[in-house]
Amino acid sequence: MSEVSWFENTELSYAEFMLNNWRKRPAVFEKGLESISQKLSSELIYNTIIDISSSDYVESRMIQQATDKYHLAFGPFSKNEISTTLSNARNMLMVQGTDQHIPSLSELLTNQFGFLPRWRIEDIMITIGGSGASCGPHFDHYDVFLFQLRGEKHWQWDARRHEDEELDLDSDLRLLPSFDPEFSQTMGLGDVLYLPPGAGHWGIAGPDSMTLSIGIRNPTMVELVSNYTDELLDDHLAAKDNPRTLDDTLDPSNNALSGAMIDELHTRYLSFVSNRERMSHWFGRYMTELKEPDLIRPMEQSVVEHELAAHRLEDAPFRLTLPSRITHQDEFEPLQFFLNGEMFSLDLTCIDIISQLSRTREVAAKEIFGREESLMLMKSLMLNGAIQSMGAAQECA
Ligand SMILES: [Fe+2]
Repeated sequence: MSEVSWFENTELSYAEFMLNNWRKRPAVFEKGLESISQKLSSELIYNTIIDISSSDYVESRMIQQATDKYHLAFGPFSKNEISTTLSNARNMLMVQGTDQHIPSLSELLTNQFGFLPRWRIEDIMITIGGSGASCGPHFDHYDVFLFQLRGEKHWQWDARRHEDEELDLDSDLRLLPSFDPEFSQTMGLGDVLYLPPGAGHWGIAGPDSMTLSIGIRNPTMVELVSNYTDELLDDHLAAKDNPRTLDDTLDPSNNALSGAMIDELHTRYLSFVSNRERMSHWFGRYMTELKEPDLIRPMEQSVVEHELAAHRLEDAPFRLTLPSRITHQDEFEPLQFFLNGEMFSLDLTCIDIISQLSRTREVAAKEIFGREESLMLMKSLMLNGAIQSMGAAQECA
């Protein structure tokens, strides 16, 4: 395994974290991202998220506090609405998918969170607010790394695994009415708190706080089974493939549901839903689906030809567009490549390029020109809107 990126200023190794904490226990990385927190411009990020919060393609929420009640409102929001709401320090703005709009945040995921396969990361949500801003005690179904990029936030958390039935049903938020934290700490610039799925937590902002939540795409079994079986049934109905269930053999002496009949039903059901290769193809598509597919802008054929010529001339790398999600599956031949919720079959000779795009989100021009299969792959990615145009690439540099 190649060397993985990891937090700085910590004695907890990546291997120990994966063994003892990942999916199990919270972990604190004091100054774990100190260097990058000094390089990222929180001012630029702040201004950008205020701008994008007015877009229909960005999921944003504002939480206002009145006495002990929380009021939740969904965006898009105008700049005026945001500035009026945030003039009360106890209110907060939460913006999802910021890495799909801000190049430096996409690079943060590539460089500082390279220890996680990118397809497992949902997005970076950014929360801003002033003294006392909070969304209350709650838990999430996914892992999250909470990275403090500006100001401070006081966190309280536990190491339990909460369940949905504990939630306050009268609240718009996923509030835990009974929260008994075991740990607390104030997180400052560059500090990171890792929380596994189900851990209760409550963050209360200090003045001028900005927190980046690096969330993991962690669908529940109900979500997975629901999506997979919906697709499976659609495919069978489209193919007019609707096999019978039970044999017609009857036992007139027994009016009960026999164990043999239940066994037969169970066996037939499992064989109907269980196809490992089909499941692997569905899973690749499911995990690369975009929440906002409209962020992808396919390129015209003539623009692709023009862009290819520009890449060749300037020896410029090919970069994935910020919203694009990719992964691949090399167990079967041909190689299965998943891009933004779709599956493509590719020659195995393209695996190095796909691996590199998955890992670093870019590939050098010299890897592309000179090999017909690579060039064809890059053309199809450009047509699909998965590769940035040179203009966009230069803006990101
Ligand atoms: Fe949370």
